[in-house]
Amino acid sequence: MLEAILLVGGQGTRLRPLTLSAPKPMLPVAGVPCTTHQIARAREAGVSHIVLGTSYQAEVFTQAYGDGGDLGVRLTYAHEKVPLGTGGALRNVAEHLHSGPDDPVLVFNGDVLSGLDIEALVEHWRSSEADVALYLTRVADPRPFGLVPTDPSDRVLAFLEKPTTPEEIVTDQINAGCYVFRRRLLDDIPDGRPVSVERETFPGLLAAGARVIGHVDTSYWLDLGTPLAFVRGSADLVRGLAPSPAVVGSTGDALVLPGANVHPSAVVDQGSTIGRDCIVHAGAHVRGSVLMDGAVVESGAEVIDSVIGRAAVIGGNCRLLETVVGDAARIGPDNEFAAGARIWPGTELGPMSIRFSAEPA
Ligand code: GDD
Ligand code: MG
Repeated sequence: MLEAILLVGGQGTRLRPLTLSAPKPMLPVAGVPCTTHQIARAREAGVSHIVLGTSYQAEVFTQAYGDGGDLGVRLTYAHEKVPLGTGGALRNVAEHLHSGPDDPVLVFNGDVLSGLDIEALVEHWRSSEADVALYLTRVADPRPFGLVPTDPSDRVLAFLEKPTTPEEIVTDQINAGCYVFRRRLLDDIPDGRPVSVERETFPGLLAAGARVIGHVDTSYWLDLGTPLAFVRGSADLVRGLAPSPAVVGSTGDALVLPGANVHPSAVVDQGSTIGRDCIVHAGAHVRGSVLMDGAVVESGAEVIDSVIGRAAVIGGNCRLLETVVGDAARIGPDNEFAAGARIWPGTELGPMSIRFSAEPA
């Protein structure tokens, strides 16, 4: 039996306003929550029991998944009334585990899409007799992540979470958000107070001489924590670049979910997802974007690399680039939003109220 912990209790601040109505791991990427993709992949790798470490909007997870029967795994929930951080969450989950003290327990950050060979990570942990094995990947800009330099025998040398000075940028190898822990190390995390696994537990284990190894896997990897990463991850799933057994019905260029209505003269492409009961009107163009259920894009509007919340309405001939529109917002015709714009849920905007270029495109 292999057990896993899914960390899903964060507030998803960088994805507001989307995370006002749903926790980040439950926002639909390619039509289903990131959590569903992760559970499906863990199950494929032989995981039979998953404990979700919840805090923010915990009830959304229990309502969606119950005991996990529909997904073919056993799910249990460890709720934190007050968020305990990534390490405190692991300690809080420990009593739900059945693994023995020296058994491997997998841990997943709840907002990562990846092509990691999970079984190879567990095997590396086992064959190197490690206390902890960390999944590492390489990225062009490691600064928003945890930097993890290793020696030639894969031993982790340091753990530098979100470095702030140039001297700290010693590697492009980062913590990719999945670990194998020897179970008893989880029990050793302090109880009842917030603990960061990245800032406290990992550096503490290194200082205490624990055997912590890095496992580099450079297949597909993406942290969905920002709006742009979120739309890219969704599009990559739709296009088959990110592997997930939970994506159903993609044409390769777009995923149009049941009940959605796309006018024959509209263009929906570059990995866009059109949610249930959405309407995309004549001449509209939806490119690389996510329309959540019931959203409406009116005639001639252009929606590029953007997320449109549930039941939001984008008026005719609007242009949106890298914009997040909250649930049920109503944007009148002929508005233009530049990269980084965020419209709060329920906002009502009249016609031609916001432009970012002098001339209409
Ligand atoms: N239960 C619980 N309680 N979960 C939490 C808490 C908490 O207090 N805080 C965060 N989480 C969950 C989030 O829901 C998310 O799934 C995961 O832990 C990681 O939190 P993020 O907020 O997404 O962290 P990050 O992306 O800035 O950094 C982390 O992930 C990077 C890779 O994606 C770190 O682990 C970095 O070292 C790493 O490189
Ligand atoms: Mg993250």
